[in-house]
Amino acid sequence: MANNISPGSFSLFSLLLMIVLSISSSGSRVHAFSIEEATIKDIQHAFKHSRLTSRKLVEFYIQEISKLNPVLRGVIEVNPDALYQADVADKERRARARGSLSCLHGIPILLKDNIATKDKLNTTAGSIALLGSVVPRDAGVVKKLRKAGAIILGKASMSEWAGFRSTTAPNGWSARGGQGKNPYVLTADPCGSSSGSAISVASNIVAVSLGTETDGSILCPASANSVVGIKPTVGLTSRAGVIPVSHRQDTIGPICRTVSDAVYVLDAIAGLDYNDKATRKASRHIPYGGYRQFLKPHWLKGKRLGIVRNPFFDFSNGSALTQAFESHFNTLRLRFGR
Ligand SMILES: *[C@@H]1O[C@H](CO)[C@@H](O)[C@H](O)[C@H]1NC(C)=O
Ligand SMILES: *[C@@H]1O[C@H](CO)[C@@H](O)[C@H](O)[C@H]1NC(C)=O
Repeated sequence: MANNISPGSFSLFSLLLMIVLSISSSGSRVHAFSIEEATIKDIQHAFKHSRLTSRKLVEFYIQEISKLNPVLRGVIEVNPDALYQADVADKERRARARGSLSCLHGIPILLKDNIATKDKLNTTAGSIALLGSVVPRDAGVVKKLRKAGAIILGKASMSEWAGFRSTTAPNGWSARGGQGKNPYVLTADPCGSSSGSAISVASNIVAVSLGTETDGSILCPASANSVVGIKPTVGLTSRAGVIPVSHRQDTIGPICRTVSDAVYVLDAIAGLDYNDKATRKASRHIPYGGYRQFLKPHWLKGKRLGIVRNPFFDFSNGSALTQAFESHFNTLRLRFGR
């Protein structure tokens, strides 16, 4: 789960990107519903008003995958049971009382290919060596997602063996998935190793996704593909059933289009799992009611932001990235009076 670009600079950039995205997503929203770019809240709203079903949503994503994946290669496998799971979710929604279902209920999610699922999908970390291997059970985070009613849409491509196949393999490449591409600039580095998760949410071929990180593998592809990644502290999410790299550093976290979506997914996957000791200690620190209570549009008001310009962001450099970053920072300053 390593990447070839300095992870430190990317984690800072991701953090600020998250802030920028959270501000832009708090603006007024037009009411016409479109699946493209729809957030979890938009989708749940459309479900509630019978303008959308999980089946329609999954059909849309499968169609987008068949259209875009030959170029982007963000997806390694589509779950043959995704439509069945969608039908079950639709039936449950009709039968259950309003408000009794989790916000992930009926929402399709893509899992990085190193996260085990005990179903028709393979779990291979992008490698042909693991093709057809049988896992003993769902990963801890997958159990929680199924319990929340999420639909497992499929497996995302990744840098093979999470970047530990070799020190020179390109980010986003695997023998099974081919070369994952950055949807914004096809020739640009999509970063890795959770490349497919970031590529797929950025190109609207799934609602939300999970990635994993040992050393920059959530933050870097989230930055490079202009989406939101959260790297949880080790143990906040269960490592059980995830192909390991380092017991001290591996962690599983959301990669989504908005900060709110990432927090809803984090709330669903965080917490105790008897198959991962580290979750015992970490789960005691999860705030009652989860992290969504901190999603406040004006949360940044009056806050002072520190930026480590040297060595991470030396704006005197003048590159397009640093210029874009400087202008985001000025927007923040204008909006929040600092
Ligand atoms: C899993 O791998 C096997 C090859 O061993 C393949 O036949 C099967 O189609 C794969 N599953 C999916 C869902 O793609
Ligand atoms: C800015 O830094 C990048 C990366 O170190 C370098 O490739 C680029 O040439 C620099 N740009 C300028 C204008 O110095």
